[in-house]
Amino acid sequence: MFSRITGIGGFLPGEPVSNDDLARRGIDTSDQWVTSRTGIRFRHLAEGGQSASDLALEASRRALAAAGLAASDLDLIVVATSTPDFIFPSTACLLQSKLGNHGATAFDIQAVCSGFVYALTIADKFVRSGSHRRALVVGAEVFSRILDWSDRATCVLFGDGAGAVVVEASETPGILSSALHADGAHHGILSVPGSICGGKVIGDPFLRMDGQAVFKFAVRVLAEVADECCQAAGVAPADLDWLIPHQANIRILEATAKRMKLPMEKVVVTVDRHGNTSAASVPLALDEAVRDGRIVTGQKVMLEGVGGGFTWGAVLLAF
Ligand code: UT7
Repeated sequence: MFSRITGIGGFLPGEPVSNDDLARRGIDTSDQWVTSRTGIRFRHLAEGGQSASDLALEASRRALAAAGLAASDLDLIVVATSTPDFIFPSTACLLQSKLGNHGATAFDIQAVCSGFVYALTIADKFVRSGSHRRALVVGAEVFSRILDWSDRATCVLFGDGAGAVVVEASETPGILSSALHADGAHHGILSVPGSICGGKVIGDPFLRMDGQAVFKFAVRVLAEVADECCQAAGVAPADLDWLIPHQANIRILEATAKRMKLPMEKVVVTVDRHGNTSAASVPLALDEAVRDGRIVTGQKVMLEGVGGGFTWGAVLLAF
């Protein structure tokens, strides 16, 4: 038994917010700086009342419609998020309630920007074991809620959004291989180090990052884990049709493609219009490239994540 992606959906809240819009809102930055250092031109920001489960709901409805399934058909719901609606219950349970599904296994995965590849790998293992047949895998984030809007080195980088896929049991392989890694020794270079105790936030509730350390780490592990995943499936990197790395910075994407000896024409890029949407970035990019007809049946697609923890991983798909 294998698992296959049979439907994809994405959702971005509101209108695009440009770098100039951020500068007009009082952030000491410029379109020239953000574009040249990151490739980011726009991001979407959730309205005050919109939570991760709201964004997840829209993306999930679209993925279910694409798969031709109803929410009641699902027996597994996995949500990757680092910006959950509540401490508990899980965003997966809240999404389940909004979808109107009763009884499916539902839980969250917290692997920050690697969250979607972690969640997809877990769903693949559940489905291939035979215990579950139809899974919904979602990456949903409202990172705008954990940004320090007075820290120009981080607040310009991130955006909000959600992407979802339906994964079904199949006799033909869809997910060919996967690899997940973490090294908690690097937890300090990207974190939100606050906690809640006694009704108060203890410590710092905002995202903090050593940008250059993250940059170097990301470029190294994205190339390594893609190679590992290719080897596990007996696929040469040159035979990949598409590479979809986590969308953090265009320079990270370019450096990864260069290390893998892949032309940028094979890399799906959304960071210019979405910014870094953490766990949502990979399924949003996959959704865009499938809907606009770039990714078609029969192609080999490598999905890759890297993020806080540090965590990293990849999933190789036969689409
Ligand atoms: O999912 C993983 C998430 N994280 C990432 O992907 C981040 C990876 N790292 C990066 O993308 C880059 O390190 C950054 C884009 C965050 C920063 O680029 P950098 O080339 O490493 O710049 P820097 O931090 O060394 O800052 C250079 C200058 C500084 O000014 P001085 O000290 O040279 O006068 C900063 O204060 O740029 C300044 N700066 C800005 N200027 C205008 C930092 N942020 C901004 C800004 N607008 N938004």
